[in-house]
Amino acid sequence: MNITMIGTGYVGLVTGTCFAEFGHHVTCVDKIEAKITQLKAGKIPIYEPGLDLLVTKNVNEGRLQFTTQLEKAIPEAEAIFIAVGTPTSRRGDGYADLTYIYAAAKEVAHHLKGYTVIIDKSTVPVGTARQVARIIKEENPEADFNVASNPEFLREGAAISDFMRPDRVVIGVESDRSEQVLREVYKPLFLRDTPIVSTTIETAELTKYAANAFLAVKISFINEMAAVCEAVGANVSDLAKGIGMDGRIGNKFLHPGPGYGGSCFPKDTLALMRIVQEHGESVRIVEAAVEVNAAQKARMVKKIRDMLGGSESGKTIAILGLTFKPETDDMREAPAATILPALLEKGAHIKAHDPKGMKEAKEYLPESIEYMESSYDACKDADAVVLMTEWNQYRALDLERVKALMKEPVFIDLRNVYEAETMKAAGFRYTGVGK
Ligand code: UDX
Repeated sequence: MNITMIGTGYVGLVTGTCFAEFGHHVTCVDKIEAKITQLKAGKIPIYEPGLDLLVTKNVNEGRLQFTTQLEKAIPEAEAIFIAVGTPTSRRGDGYADLTYIYAAAKEVAHHLKGYTVIIDKSTVPVGTARQVARIIKEENPEADFNVASNPEFLREGAAISDFMRPDRVVIGVESDRSEQVLREVYKPLFLRDTPIVSTTIETAELTKYAANAFLAVKISFINEMAAVCEAVGANVSDLAKGIGMDGRIGNKFLHPGPGYGGSCFPKDTLALMRIVQEHGESVRIVEAAVEVNAAQKARMVKKIRDMLGGSESGKTIAILGLTFKPETDDMREAPAATILPALLEKGAHIKAHDPKGMKEAKEYLPESIEYMESSYDACKDADAVVLMTEWNQYRALDLERVKALMKEPVFIDLRNVYEAETMKAAGFRYTGVGK
């Protein structure tokens, strides 16, 4: 099958590459020439484990190609996926900015040949696919096409395995013909018994927001429970086990931390709130989750301050991990981007380390931060260590070495990686979240 992917950002590149791995012929299109040149040379602009190998393999086997020329990639395609960016609008009102989606629709319209399905892969407000259809019809009344919605549920850092072994695939379609095309696209998964949930277009569009909002609620719930545990002297990890083993609740996404971040949860919760408001309704639980998440970051600043004896002024703080989660270099909405400036403002000196994210971090964080070559360099002469992101390499630190390097043995574990008893036995003043 011939597939065109418009947009080689995170979602477009992973999805396009995985479709090629399924055996389809995929052309990935992007307007940014430098990006396409880079991709053609086998260089991947983002860090995603396993993606480079998969791109190279599929390019070499002739199933995956990159181009800036949309007009060449459209006529042959049976399915065209739109995976361009939908950032939160510059107006700062929480709406998703759909400029790129509509521009892509307009351009596609003129080059369509034969029956084609145009599928929104980007996370877009309910009604966007219908708008895309309207634009295409306006631009090219003769075009033979259907629109569809096919939301992605990929986690950064695990995107390829999420794609190849999804819990489900959601397709929102308006005709049997377009459903058949999408089923064909996902046939390799269907053969592996992956459930395909076929819905209306609007339901599919909303399903993506509902899934992310629910997960954000789950995280904010456990973060609030962590605060309750601290107040009453309970242990949130045991509590999470105690509730998570109930199949109705589930044990995933019950890890307390410094608040959720990334390119999806913060953006999609706000966008959902706006969509719902426009329809005269409200999603108060989601609003609360967003508030709790902001409060959680502030709470972490206070936790660090308390562990430093009430003031961070003049103190050196080692930060281990900057990205919003491990196995990515993505700094978008990373808790570090809120917590670190707050500490610096009160006069702290920060020495930071991240295995993959330091280059990206420099764009997001104040200049005064010192970036260190290794976690141990960061710990040298520190008054406290803050474990911010649970990269594997921070899970088995040489604790004796860390302690010997530090000025004060204070360890603040914002991801509950270590056991309090172990840390106390190793001579640290230790705190986690909710313990
Ligand atoms: C998420 C969704 O999981 C994915 O399905 C969607 O399509 C895109 O958004 P992603 O943002 O890559 O994926 O990361 P995820 O692993 O979901 O983590 C999001 C944030 O929540 C991270 O900041 C993470 O640290 C935090 N988190 C996650 C917690 O604090 N606790 C948890 O238990 C789980």
